[in-house]
This record gives sequence, structure tokens and C-alpha cells, in this order.
Amino acid sequence: MEFRGAHILSVQQFNREDVDTIFSVADSMEPYAHRLRMTKVLDGAILGNMFFEPSTRTRVSFGCAFNLLGGEVRETTDVKASSISKGESLYDTARVISGYSDAIVMRHPQVGAVAEFAKASRVPVINGGDGSNEHPSQALLDLYTIRKELHSKGRGIDDMHIAMVGDLKHGRTVHSLSQLLMLYKNIKFTLISPKELRMPEDIVSNLRNAGNQVIETEDMEKGLSDNDTVYLTRIQEERFTTKLEADIYRGRFRLNQAIYTRNCQPNTVIMHPLPRDSRADANELDNDLNQHPNLAIFRQTDNGVLVRMALFALILDVTEQIDDSSSKVNWYTEGRFE
Ligand code: CP
Repeated sequence: MEFRGAHILSVQQFNREDVDTIFSVADSMEPYAHRLRMTKVLDGAILGNMFFEPSTRTRVSFGCAFNLLGGEVRETTDVKASSISKGESLYDTARVISGYSDAIVMRHPQVGAVAEFAKASRVPVINGGDGSNEHPSQALLDLYTIRKELHSKGRGIDDMHIAMVGDLKHGRTVHSLSQLLMLYKNIKFTLISPKELRMPEDIVSNLRNAGNQVIETEDMEKGLSDNDTVYLTRIQEERFTTKLEADIYRGRFRLNQAIYTRNCQPNTVIMHPLPRDSRADANELDNDLNQHPNLAIFRQTDNGVLVRMALFALILDVTEQIDDSSSKVNWYTEGRFE
């Protein structure tokens, strides 16, 4: 794909070469993300960071990524704080904000709203999550993490076995990640969820039609065996009509040290897009795994900055100029990214 000026709305716009390009640029961002060097390549540029749903990682890491490239960030973090609450359309909002910004990241509760916004925008728009549909930058950082984790264990993405666990119906991260994995060969997917929260049928069909093996099960312990990666997800209570409906499923699928040791291969990478639901009745990914060497959740969050820097550098077409405007940092930075 042509990255320059492109909107990033869905993983379906990428081919394998595009993913390799993003990952190669992400690798080159490491000195900047890890505070060894700083660059001013986006000095003067402004990011419109518009989050109409709660977020910690996506909002802050996109903002940090833009700052680390030398740009400024303007945030809108609540529909109530925006004139959308006075009836302004996405079209008008996009025309206005894209006059103030050089790139926009948007999260919105409605499926398709970010794509609708992007149609009216005068600058590139990145989908930070649209309802239960897609979360493309999360899928890229997840795949980037999987690649690094498996590489360190002498394995690759082709022929990988992955278990996806939890609310696969509403979880936009698993929708995007599974579709991104269709670019690779012979993946075995074990989809572990209550039957009411299964992965949407169209995605399962696409995975099978692309030649992948797909097993759907409610039996978590059985499903955990024989995987290179286990990817857990939260019950997305904000997508249910009432909290009581979500409560039925909360805590049904938990991973802790004992369950991991009993069922997983010793090398299985443990992932979660976060936030994990750590309330006692959910505790879906137990703190007793926090020191486990295969727990990759905080490497995922760190990698998110690299991947998001790469997306900005590519869509704003500055990849070749980053090092030209760089210098060493002056403050204490040791030990944070070991
Ligand atoms: N993974 C993710 O999207 O996290 P946030 O909701 O905190 O952005």
C-alpha cells in the first residue's frame, strides 16, 4: 500500500510486505522510544487525539509516539467535552479538526464511525478502535510482539498455534489480530469462549477459507495445550445491554500459574491487549504470573509505542529524515527497557 497520507482503518488494507515495512520502521524507532536519542522530525506538527471511549494505552501511547517524534498533541477525551454533544455531525467535526491537525487518531463506540469520520478528514486518520469492529494498531503491536517473542525462542509466525480466549464476539483486538494473521501460513487457531461469545462467523469462515485450522471450544484447559501463544481477552461489559448480562461470563476463563503449568507448553507466550479485569470475581490473568518470563503483556505495551511511531512516520512520510534531526538525550534513562 501507499502509506503516505493514508488512513489506517482496518487490518484488511495491509499485505505481508506492508506489515514487514511497518515492523522494520518500528525496529528503527527503538533508540527514540527507549530514550537513547531524540528526534525533532515532527517539530511543528499537531496530532488530534480524539477518544470518545475510555482508554489508557492506546490514547497515551499514540500521544507519546507523536511527542517522541517531536510533535504536539491536542486531546479530546469525552463526547460531553466535544460539540458532538450539541448535535454536530462526524462530517463537520472531521472538517474542523482536520484543519487544526496534521494527523488524527480516533476511538469511537460505533462500528464504522472512524471510517465515516476519515472520509471527511483532510488529514490521515488512524482507527484507535471502533466499537466491537477493529483495532488495527493493537493488532500490529500484538503481531510485532508475537514475532519478537517467537523469534527469541527460535520460531516464526508461519505454522504458529495460537489460542484466543474470552469474549471473542465483542473483542475488537481479536477480530483484528486473527484477520492480520491470515497473511501468514498454516496458523492453527483455538478459539476458547462461551458459545454466546464466539468469534463472529464471517471471521471464522475467512480464517478457514484461507487454509487455517480453526477449533472452537468452551473447554479452556483442553484448549490451552499445544499453543505457541495464548491471547486472553476481557469480557467487554461495555458492549452488553446491562452489566448483569456481562456478569454471567465474568471469571469463567482464568489463567493463573497453576492452570498455565498444568496445561500450557513451557514456552507458551502469554498475551493480553489489556486492560485485564483484575477484580476478584474476574481475575482473568492472575497477578501470580506477573514475574513469569513468558508473560509478554508489558512488552506488548512498550512495543505499542514503536509501532505507533512507525505508523506516524510512514503516513507523514518522514522515515528517511528521522535520524537527520536527532541528538542524544540529556536526562537519566538507564534500565527502563531491559
Ligand atoms: N488495549 C487497549 O486498547 O487498551 P486501552 O483501552 O487502555 O486503550
